[in-house]
Amino acid sequence: MLIDVITIFPEYLAPAQLSLLGKAAAAGIVRLQVHDLRNWTSDRHRTVDDTPYGGGAGMVMKPEPWGLAIDDLLGAPTRRPQAPEPSPPGQVPGAGAGGSELLEAAGGTGGQGDEVTLVIPTASGNPFDQALAERLAGATRLVFACGRYEGIDARVAEHYRGRDGVAVEELSIGDYVLAGGEVAALVMIEAITRLLPGVVGNAASLAEESHVRPGLLEYPVYTKPAVWRGLEVPPVLLSGHHGKVAAWRDDQARQRTAQMRPDLAG
Ligand code: ADE
Repeated sequence: MLIDVITIFPEYLAPAQLSLLGKAAAAGIVRLQVHDLRNWTSDRHRTVDDTPYGGGAGMVMKPEPWGLAIDDLLGAPTRRPQAPEPSPPGQVPGAGAGGSELLEAAGGTGGQGDEVTLVIPTASGNPFDQALAERLAGATRLVFACGRYEGIDARVAEHYRGRDGVAVEELSIGDYVLAGGEVAALVMIEAITRLLPGVVGNAASLAEESHVRPGLLEYPVYTKPAVWRGLEVPPVLLSGHHGKVAAWRDDQARQRTAQMRPDLAG
């Protein structure tokens, strides 16, 4: 899977080099390219924002740099090289000049043909959930457009929604307002890429966790020692009786869901 992130703060994506996603990149399952939006500006101040039409507080991100950046990335063929390759300045305009490629590895998965999904993180988007993570994990290429300030001029989403071969998803990671789309992109990228075959060591662990069984949270988990600070591990887990363990876990999952997320409990 090829993932591009466009942002005015490329450094925000540095944590993507860590842990699972870093391993996925090293293993050639994911290739993540981070690009600085300001490389698609042409004025001396590298301006990316302006005052909102209609008045109001804050600034809005101008459509032109976004259009140029996204066009360049979409115009570039979906590359799935087998080995890391430097991107010489000018090869992919803007990206070559300033796309700080934080991670680079071979990759490419099937799933949704070669269609590109343009993801625009926004507090006013559709809720991003596990089902969406699973759907996006089937994509070959994702481009994240991370806005700041009051958001990106609405015509950017509108323009690309009308383009052949491009699916546009405006997505929110929760009912709160972040300072920008970068953290939301990181959240989504982690949720999506850990579903790719070979990223999580034990595929069974994916099946059991919260939100995979819709409407049911995960049961509580324990490890050694059997007694810690006077607290005992529930005896059924030490019984070796698989049927009883499964029934107990199911019951705990239901209780926990009712307690923590009554909105999910049926
Ligand atoms: N940008 C600002 N707030 C956001 C949210 N809750 N989800 C996604 N992107 C955002």
